[in-house]
Amino acid sequence: MRSHKLFLSALLVLVLAFTSVLFVAHAQDASGAGLTIGFAQVGSESAWRTAFSDAVKAEAEARGINLLFSDGQQKQENQIAALRSFIAQGVDGIILAPVVETGWDDVLQEAADNSIPVVVVDRNVTADESLFVTRVSSDFVHEGRLAAAWLVQATAGKCDIVELQGTVGSSAALDRQQGFNEVIALFTDMQIIASQSGDFTRTNGKEVMESFLNSIDPATICAVWAHNDDMLIGAIEAMKEAGIDPGQDILTISVDAIPDIFKAMMDGDANATVELSPNMGGPAFDAIVAAINGETLPRWIPVAGGIYFPDTAAEEYARRGGQ
Ligand code: AHR
Repeated sequence: MRSHKLFLSALLVLVLAFTSVLFVAHAQDASGAGLTIGFAQVGSESAWRTAFSDAVKAEAEARGINLLFSDGQQKQENQIAALRSFIAQGVDGIILAPVVETGWDDVLQEAADNSIPVVVVDRNVTADESLFVTRVSSDFVHEGRLAAAWLVQATAGKCDIVELQGTVGSSAALDRQQGFNEVIALFTDMQIIASQSGDFTRTNGKEVMESFLNSIDPATICAVWAHNDDMLIGAIEAMKEAGIDPGQDILTISVDAIPDIFKAMMDGDANATVELSPNMGGPAFDAIVAAINGETLPRWIPVAGGIYFPDTAAEEYARRGGQ
């Protein structure tokens, strides 16, 4: 009887050891090594976007992930086609950086039907939350609030502002605008006197600023609020060509913290920038691995950023690889 019990115990130990070996063999390595992941990027409209693409590619290479990269050229239809191609190729996961918020439900449903986890990065989508694993991003509303708070204190709460909006329908533009407007609404002498989209590009930022300077007396403009640094750099060019001293005659505030804005600060042309970290690849890959391993994730994985001024511009320019 005793030897029978011993035999059963030994058998149980063997079965447990075997099943745990099987489990370990099937659990995805935490780095994501060996996975094939599709990345549907917005485009290459700004220096920040290029830095973000480069960071994701470098992270994939360091982890041994096979990354399928698609540049959507700022067109939602291109991004939807890329997602369908990733699904057809049977990728292990998808990272979606959506150009606009709406219109993703059908294609996300197709990914879900094929049991492919999707992680949304940077801008948001309005689709049902069950259709994607999580979102890795900064808080765009907070960025807008930070920008406005700086401008309030720099102008003692009295400022006529021209606004360069980002891409129409993108959460980066909608939320930054919301956060900024919430704060200036608390001050009766702060208002937006003109506002137009520059689509997050340097060229459009310059054109929109030129049209503002042609239609509004520049002496009445206290500040330019740009939803990204690239549009502001275009606006700086427009101001200089119009004989205006940017950063002095007209204050500037923008978002991203790219090397060129620090150069502009060093030249006395820009006053402040709110940082948007491009380092979202790591947490996005981690989220896909966690989803594959059946773990439950928070709905939002935040990425933090600060606000920067000319006093540290030279240091930041060097630190961020400016040249
Ligand atoms: O979605 C983030 C925004 O997109 C960045 O601020 C801008 O530079 C980019 O085009």
